[in-house]
Amino acid sequence: MNLVIFGAPGCGKGTQSERLIDRFGFYHISTGELLRDHIARKTELGIIAEKYISQGHLIPDELMLSIIDVLLDSPEVKDRSIIFDGFPRTVNQAEELEKLLVKRGNKVDAVIGLEVPDEELVERLIKRGQDSGRADDNIDTIKERLDVYHNQTQPLKKFYQERGSYRTINGSQSIDKIAEDIAQLVATI
Ligand code: AP5
Ligand code: MG
Repeated sequence: MNLVIFGAPGCGKGTQSERLIDRFGFYHISTGELLRDHIARKTELGIIAEKYISQGHLIPDELMLSIIDVLLDSPEVKDRSIIFDGFPRTVNQAEELEKLLVKRGNKVDAVIGLEVPDEELVERLIKRGQDSGRADDNIDTIKERLDVYHNQTQPLKKFYQERGSYRTINGSQSIDKIAEDIAQLVATI
């Protein structure tokens, strides 16, 4: 089973992915974490990615898609159920993901949309910035990330609604309640 956990910056994609891994054993592909790891290791990809991430912009689709293409064939991912976190993020990425999965006899089974009002997202991210110091959790970059989300990523909701795979989850509840709602939903897929 392949799931996409979808929503704005700070909606809880990473937090709920961890719960899903513990409960159902998904392989977790978080494109944000993958890119931050490259930045920390100062790889060629990391040097390119940092320029975009620090401004709250998306890295180019072709670059992101080539990384996913390679990753899907890696031994640790092959034949596993996958949870995609932070990917796809543009309609083009979603269309290309569809092709990459079809090529491997696979598909996206459900898209779990965690819906949270913007004011709550800003509060969460500012707090995390103070606690953990993630470089893109400062007010200017947060505002840009939210703009990018509304302009480039939110149209994916309609894209997946048209395919009948979008499921809405209220992301403003407690972490435990959201995890329970998602687990119930996954049981029906
Ligand atoms: P990415 O790492 O994906 O960041 P994001 O989408 O901005 O989302 P976050 O990771 O900040 O939030 P989250 O939804 O995971 O929430 P979390 O669980 O952490 O991407 C970063 C950058 O990488 C992008 O801006 C872009 O530049 C680049 N990038 C990544 N993917 C790309 C792609 N596909 N294409 C192009 N570029 C890409 O929770 C947030 C906080 O809230 C935490 O402190 C958590 O403890 C708290 N929290 C969680 N749930 C709750 C709750 N229910 N109640 C209260 N607090 C909660
Ligand atoms: Mg995350």
